[in-house]
Amino acid sequence: MDSILVRGNGPLNGDIEIAGAKNACLALMPATLLSDEPLTLTNAPRLSDIKTMTALLASLGAEVTALQDGKVQAMSCHGEINPVADYEIVRKMRASNLVLGPLLARLGHAVVSLPGGCAIGARPMDLHTTALEALGAEISLKDGYLHAKAAGGLKGAVHKMRFPSVGATENFVMAASLAKGTSVLENAAREPEIVDLCDCLNKMGAQIEGAGTSRIEIQGVDRLHGATHPVVTDRIELGTFMLAPAICGGEVTCLGGKLSLVESFVAKLEEAGISVEENARGLTVSRKGDRVKAVDVTTEPFPGFPTDLQAQMMALLCTAEGTSVLEETIFENRFMHAPELIRMGADIEVHGGHAKVHGVEKLKGAPVMATDLRASVSLILAGLAAEGETVVSRVYHLDRGYEFIEKKLSGIGAQIERIQS
Ligand code: EPZ
Repeated sequence: MDSILVRGNGPLNGDIEIAGAKNACLALMPATLLSDEPLTLTNAPRLSDIKTMTALLASLGAEVTALQDGKVQAMSCHGEINPVADYEIVRKMRASNLVLGPLLARLGHAVVSLPGGCAIGARPMDLHTTALEALGAEISLKDGYLHAKAAGGLKGAVHKMRFPSVGATENFVMAASLAKGTSVLENAAREPEIVDLCDCLNKMGAQIEGAGTSRIEIQGVDRLHGATHPVVTDRIELGTFMLAPAICGGEVTCLGGKLSLVESFVAKLEEAGISVEENARGLTVSRKGDRVKAVDVTTEPFPGFPTDLQAQMMALLCTAEGTSVLEETIFENRFMHAPELIRMGADIEVHGGHAKVHGVEKLKGAPVMATDLRASVSLILAGLAAEGETVVSRVYHLDRGYEFIEKKLSGIGAQIERIQS
């Protein structure tokens, strides 16, 4: 298992390329199951999760070809379709559950393994199943698999979700796009990845309005045709790399970054004393003083502060002036980076969904362990400004969501290298 070695050093300066969004691409790829014509995605990120989704779609009978070193994913699903999404693949990546809606819509039945829990929480599927049952699906659990069927096809319906689940919104929208009649999803998730999926489905001939609001209306159509669609910029990678100059000092431009993708995150950065300027090239970030100010953060569904940037923000606040309180409201166990940051000298108290971070002058490099995707990158960020060397182990977590991270960070002056083992 590879590790990453980071040496703390001074200010970082330069430009950093932001890739297409992992969480948009993982919803866009299953959309190929909805049509027998080719769907091509451009600006796709080069990540291990994309390879896992490729393997899953291939196991279902879709053809997925990575072109231009993986920046283009050319897909089509016109032959025999296997309705069973196997546990061996699904257990590796929760987003595999996004084939449930499309398989139901295309075939009228699906057998999808429950993904099982992961480090950050139990991650049940009840919001997905109730949403699809509202469209007429009958879903039962047997031997760890969801058996779903919609004899006579899915029928449009109005459904209000108890919580704006991103994945359940995506499954509902994809299923409803081929249902008979009109569907309305209330309390829908509003993330930019939902907007990107609906833009792509509309290019394929779907009739979806209201994406990005909490009420999405879908007129079902008989079939969807092929399309070519660029994956939206990854707002979580964007926020992650904006924190590099915030933590180390210097000035970095995140190319292609847009304020609209990270508004609540930027508001917190500015409150902490970081300056962010939107320009034609992207978002330019610099730190004015030599220490940021403590700020309180509560994670919320979009457009609130993203849970996927909570761990990275904590890395910044470890050396802030004062005490910050971070409240994690989306997942039940998303502070596993805290004990690793404490190994680096951070002063953090975790009580349930709250973490109190008392800022210290400087962190000290140490061997630490990645536990999940965003926790691993928060340790890298902490190591960038820590005294001495930090070695982050189990970086396979990192490769799930960050393409060429050593290259990108070295490009702005970070001392970072991968240690093969
Ligand atoms: C998506 O996961 C993202 N993944 C996650 O990013 C992100 O953290 C999350 O949305 C919240 O923004 C992808 O898009 C592939 P949810 P998803 O359904 O769809 C509970 C990353 O680091 N819930 O909005 O699974 C659930 O347990 C990943 O890139 C139910 O109770 O998130 C969680 O507590 C991590 N029942 C909350 O809702 C359900 O049926 C939010 O889950 C579904 C979810």
